[in-house]
Amino acid sequence: MAQIGEIISQLIGLQQKPAPFTSGEPLFWDDPHISVHLLEAHLNPDIDAASRNPETIDRSVKWLVENLALKAGDSVLDLGCGPGLYTSRFARAGLQVTGVDYSHRSIEYATKFAAENNLNIAYRYQNYLELNDKNRYDVVLLIYGDFCPLNPEQRTTLLNNVYRALKPNGKFVLDVSTREHRKKHGNKNRWQALESGFWKPGPHLVLEEGFDYPEQSIWLDQYTVIEANGKMSVYRNWFQDYTPEAITNELAQNGFVVESLWGDLTGTLFTQESEWIGLVTYKK
Ligand SMILES: C[S@@+](CC[C@H](N)C(=O)[O-])C[C@H]1O[C@@H](n2cnc3c(N)ncnc32)[C@H](O)[C@@H]1O
Repeated sequence: MAQIGEIISQLIGLQQKPAPFTSGEPLFWDDPHISVHLLEAHLNPDIDAASRNPETIDRSVKWLVENLALKAGDSVLDLGCGPGLYTSRFARAGLQVTGVDYSHRSIEYATKFAAENNLNIAYRYQNYLELNDKNRYDVVLLIYGDFCPLNPEQRTTLLNNVYRALKPNGKFVLDVSTREHRKKHGNKNRWQALESGFWKPGPHLVLEEGFDYPEQSIWLDQYTVIEANGKMSVYRNWFQDYTPEAITNELAQNGFVVESLWGDLTGTLFTQESEWIGLVTYKK
């Protein structure tokens, strides 16, 4: 068991700002325990946690079908599809849908839900940083800020993968967060001691801290979790927040043209107070 003195000196180190995108524990979405709570969060209709609430998703799917002029048989790839909240709705709208996610628990849930509801959806457990599909889709989706936790190299890899996966002139639709979102929702310093909880099944202490990197529009939510046997795990959720100019430039550098820019993916107009930027782009 780790000595308290050893734990304290590790905690002193963890109060220092790490270099941007320094990794923490490798497993989050696919962690066998955490993913139970994440699935609950995806499916909880009352909170916008791992997924947005069902009313917003309904509006978003309707808006996307209309705005992208999608018609029956068009092919859509949803990257980071989670338990299939968008894919199921797109399949019901007659589209040919593929969902990719690297949470075993979400993909299992989504596959079962599709079978029980007679929905023809191709689900795949895969890291989208390793996506190798070529010239296959009319539309690729990346919804709920999933671009933002990636480091710059990963973002370039993902954009290259999406570019390759799209048919000529295919569309890439995504949303990214702004600094307004982080100011509202970024972690504050706080702690919690629990018998059992989100991070661990047994007794543990959670120390939360937010680190701001304002010059780079980067934010870190850091969770240090100490279990009863003294084992310490550090989870780091990084976020690259964007302005319309920054995301438009980054997409342009990787071959995408912004067709329209919004305050979300339901057609809300973008303002300086918007917490999100919704983007409809196409492959040049
Ligand atoms: C914030 S949730 C959004 C889920 C879904 N897009 C929605 O809005 O309902 C992020 C999802 O992306 C998945 N994910 C994160 N990184 C991934 C990666 N590198 N490859 C595949 N899936 C990933 C997670 O497992 C999770 O289901």
